[in-house]
Amino acid sequence: MQKARGSVNDPGFEMSDLFEPPNTTVWDLRHGDCLAGMAALPSESVDVVVTSPPYNLDIGYRSYADDSPRAEYLNWCGQWAEQIKRLLKPEGSFFLNVGASPANPLLPHELVLKLQPYFTLQNTLHWIKSITVQPRREPELSVGHFKPINSKRFITDCHEYLFHLTQSGNVQLDRLAVGVEYSDKSNVTRWGHTKGRDRRCRGNNWFIPYETINSRDKNRPHPATFPIQLAEQCIRLHGVRPGLTMMDPFLGIGHSALAAKACSVSRFIGFEIDAGYYQEACERLEVPCSVEASP
Ligand SMILES: C[S@@+](CC[C@H](N)C(=O)[O-])C[C@H]1O[C@@H](n2cnc3c(N)ncnc32)[C@H](O)[C@@H]1O
Repeated sequence: MQKARGSVNDPGFEMSDLFEPPNTTVWDLRHGDCLAGMAALPSESVDVVVTSPPYNLDIGYRSYADDSPRAEYLNWCGQWAEQIKRLLKPEGSFFLNVGASPANPLLPHELVLKLQPYFTLQNTLHWIKSITVQPRREPELSVGHFKPINSKRFITDCHEYLFHLTQSGNVQLDRLAVGVEYSDKSNVTRWGHTKGRDRRCRGNNWFIPYETINSRDKNRPHPATFPIQLAEQCIRLHGVRPGLTMMDPFLGIGHSALAAKACSVSRFIGFEIDAGYYQEACERLEVPCSVEASP
């Protein structure tokens, strides 16, 4: 029996408040190619996919070569997208994180267009890594890490895309699960839809800076991770509910899996082709690891 939290009479009550999810996740982490791995899974068996594929921007991964000819890369993206479409339940959410480089600005757009035959783009979000804001009557404020670039042409790239793709374009989300408080509290009573609750939609710009680390080798031994918080917000936005199955075909060192653990997701499936990253993910999650022998 699930434990009830709150009451239907509470202000701003949401159906998701009713359930306390189980606090153990069943792990299915596999070392190997996600294309073969996903092909062996049953159709319509996954609720949420949060992933970040290689971007084909010549990133220095341990073993994966990130420099295919563009058409070949996009065809490969079509192949894994087709599998994700097959595995995703009709009410499922697929969160696809993809960034660009100043010299390759069209990559995220080309990729999402390639996925058009399979999914509807329901929401476009921006993962903001660093930002400068000028609050009224206060000094300018710069937050996050501004990766230095030496260029007279390009400006520092402070964001990546997070595409929310679904089968129908009509998947109901738990927006207030990642909501924020009103800065002007008079809005709480002014707007009927708040039902007296001090919570509004966060919007599609998510400021999530990288954690400051002392040693990349020890603390983040991978060249292209997303923050655990990014994946966590995706899961909560989709809606945490009993029996949720999540998948990340490009696991890296397991940040999506750590987010699944934090959200008490029931089952998590992950694939990673590189033995070193796979082992690192298993260690972080404290789950047994079985590395396939190389052919
Ligand atoms: C952008 S990284 C993902 C990082 C991950 N989100 C994290 O935070 O740790 C992409 C990963 O995909 C892996 N990869 C590349 N091709 C793969 C394939 N066919 N199957 C599974 N993993 C693959 C790469 O080794 C790399 O670790």
